[in-house]
Amino acid sequence: MKGLILSGGKGTRLRPLTHTSAKQLIPIANKPILFYALENLVEAGIKDIGIIVGDTKKEIMEAVGNGKAFNCKITYIEQESPLGLAHAVLTAEDFIKEEPFTMFLGDNFIKGGITDFVKEFYREKPNALILLTEVPNPWDFGVAELKNKTVVKLVEKPKNPKSNLALVGVYIFDSHIFKASKKIKPSFRGELEITDAIQGLIDQGLKVNPHLIKGWWKDTGKLEDILEANRIVLETIENKIHGNIDNLSQITGKAIIEKGVKIKNSVIRGPVIIGENSRIINSYIGPFTSIYYDCLIVISNSPLKEGFIFLEALKLMIGDHGKVGII
Ligand code: G1P
Repeated sequence: MKGLILSGGKGTRLRPLTHTSAKQLIPIANKPILFYALENLVEAGIKDIGIIVGDTKKEIMEAVGNGKAFNCKITYIEQESPLGLAHAVLTAEDFIKEEPFTMFLGDNFIKGGITDFVKEFYREKPNALILLTEVPNPWDFGVAELKNKTVVKLVEKPKNPKSNLALVGVYIFDSHIFKASKKIKPSFRGELEITDAIQGLIDQGLKVNPHLIKGWWKDTGKLEDILEANRIVLETIENKIHGNIDNLSQITGKAIIEKGVKIKNSVIRGPVIIGENSRIINSYIGPFTSIYYDCLIVISNSPLKEGFIFLEALKLMIGDHGKVGII
């Protein structure tokens, strides 16, 4: 099985965070969202992975490299313009060839990985396996209607959703998806929707199986989602304290404090991660806060609200390529 990660798009909803960086490279607990997707695929045994890139190709390639660091092989596939997920699939046809493949939207974040999902595909051998989860706002997603545990209808961003089951941004397909993607027309938003291509499989009588996920999932298209993903990852960290912490400072709760960090006269309340070579002076950090590497935080008398430093650090990091930030 091959892997296909979609990492084009501009992330306009995430401005100003994405003014100078790809949305898939925004860090969650100091690690780009995209790396979690790569790790999920490799963990599920998928090591031949194509990444669809667009305008932010250079940044994505610099961050991911040839895949060695992730124990996989990466092939970059250029999509001239973001014309939809089914268009991206067609762009990757030469890379995928006849093999089944897992498609992972590079800004989606799934806690608990995709190993069970991949196993289910091998066991049941459907033509497509789609991940679904219950959401309070189905009109913002592709929505599935099920009957007797089979998918009968899929609609992209329906005005009157027939269920609250949203398509999660991870799909497994066999090669029938290429023909189905060639048959569809652009949607109301001018894109070739993968949702319509999958509906095409259903209409042909092919087997499209649903897989309901219990773990936590986020389409990190919006700022609040990134903060929530940050919180979820930080909840699971274990203590790892390096760096230099003076006697006037206090650390409580779980914290990852990386090499070269200097903490002076500060209170750190976990869960918190502080990246390499950052300096924290006269400050109160956390809980649920990620400070990127090479940040300088100097604040006095400021019991900050959770997440505040995280956001500011992100802005500074992106504005200044992660070098130095002062709040
Ligand atoms: C895309 C898909 C949609 C799916 C969502 C998951 O939406 O078109 O069906 O539910 O990803 O993240 P988009 O992010 O392009 O609005």
